[in-house]
Amino acid sequence: MADSQPPRSPAHDPNAAINTARPGVHARPPGVRIIASGIAVPEKTLTNSDLEKIMDTSDEWIVQRTGIRNRHIHDPQKGDSVSGLATEALRNALQDAGMVPDDLDLIVVATMTPESPTPSVACRVTTKLGVRNIGAFDLNAACSGFVYALNTVFGLMATGAYRNIALIGADTITQHVEYSTYGRGSAVLFGDAAGAVILQRTDDPMPGLLAHILHSDGPGSKDLYVPTDERTLPEGVEYNPRHVNRVQMHGPAVFRFAVGTFPKLIEETLEHAGLQAADVDYYICHQSNVRILKAAQERFGLEDRQFPINIDRYGNTVAASVPLVFHELRQGGKIQPGQRVMFLGFGAGLTWASSLWQL
Ligand code: UT7
Repeated sequence: MADSQPPRSPAHDPNAAINTARPGVHARPPGVRIIASGIAVPEKTLTNSDLEKIMDTSDEWIVQRTGIRNRHIHDPQKGDSVSGLATEALRNALQDAGMVPDDLDLIVVATMTPESPTPSVACRVTTKLGVRNIGAFDLNAACSGFVYALNTVFGLMATGAYRNIALIGADTITQHVEYSTYGRGSAVLFGDAAGAVILQRTDDPMPGLLAHILHSDGPGSKDLYVPTDERTLPEGVEYNPRHVNRVQMHGPAVFRFAVGTFPKLIEETLEHAGLQAADVDYYICHQSNVRILKAAQERFGLEDRQFPINIDRYGNTVAASVPLVFHELRQGGKIQPGQRVMFLGFGAGLTWASSLWQL
């Protein structure tokens, strides 16, 4: 195994000195492996041609501007829920790991669409799985949620107090979408899904986090928000009852934010790890728009295989999009121990984050 691994820079030496002057670079605590994954998507689908029938849009416009052809939509009438999807994804990951729910010490769910303020989606998952007494909490960083949570979970693992942690990205964002010409700017983008991974502590110090970055820009939320009433509007925005509980997105402004931020985030992360773009095997990115992803890929001269894209089949699934891509790579046999993988997210908050791993 060691022979097939790429040469390591000093930043990967577990015994290397800690450079505290550079945030994002870590001393190497006990290793952490991502040992399993699983996903769940609602049965109901919505293709571009389905959307053409309910709003003024076209397959051509959607494919050209976003790269999306299909999305899965939860159906509350049929009992679909965010915690249901999260539980199904986790069950699949547990099966992949050959584990049972009682093997877990903690469940973390990245989501911005819990069924209710409390209980958390994570607690609902424990109920559905029939496990008691383990830790369970939600984390909300919208489309960056899974990546924020990966870094958080690694930090918890590093304390040595946990052996197996389940991390799930799950959202049913379509509950905040208006399927009409009025809402078409965001209706064509979003889909629902959940993706889970299981992280396990290991005595091998090599696998784990090489560098991480968390960012936010609160005032930037004026370009992407979900108001719940008159008091939750960004400053200067006029109240419109039609906007309540619906995603309000200034698409071109968010597009500019993403196209500008995304390459900077990659550069910053590589710098913290002392690596070049080509040293990373896979960039597993939040799937927001194929044009945003392609712009970053081209900027770093990366090959298609290093920058996997599945937005065509799922749309933008918020916190689920990153684990969906990871799972598909694993299922395809493309994820191997020793590889370096950079997870990247950006979205509402505004938030953006990276998590660079050695698997
Ligand atoms: O994960 C969360 C982060 N979100 C994102 O990353 C989204 C980032 N933004 C985007 O992906 C793009 O801005 C969109 C896909 C949302 C929109 O694409 P765009 O190229 O920025 O289009 P636009 O909003 O500038 O609209 C161009 C035209 C407008 O018509 P006029 O004014 O030129 O006549 C829109 O009314 O396209 C029209 N339009 C549509 N036409 C058909 C907007 N939405 C649609 C639609 N179908 N669904």
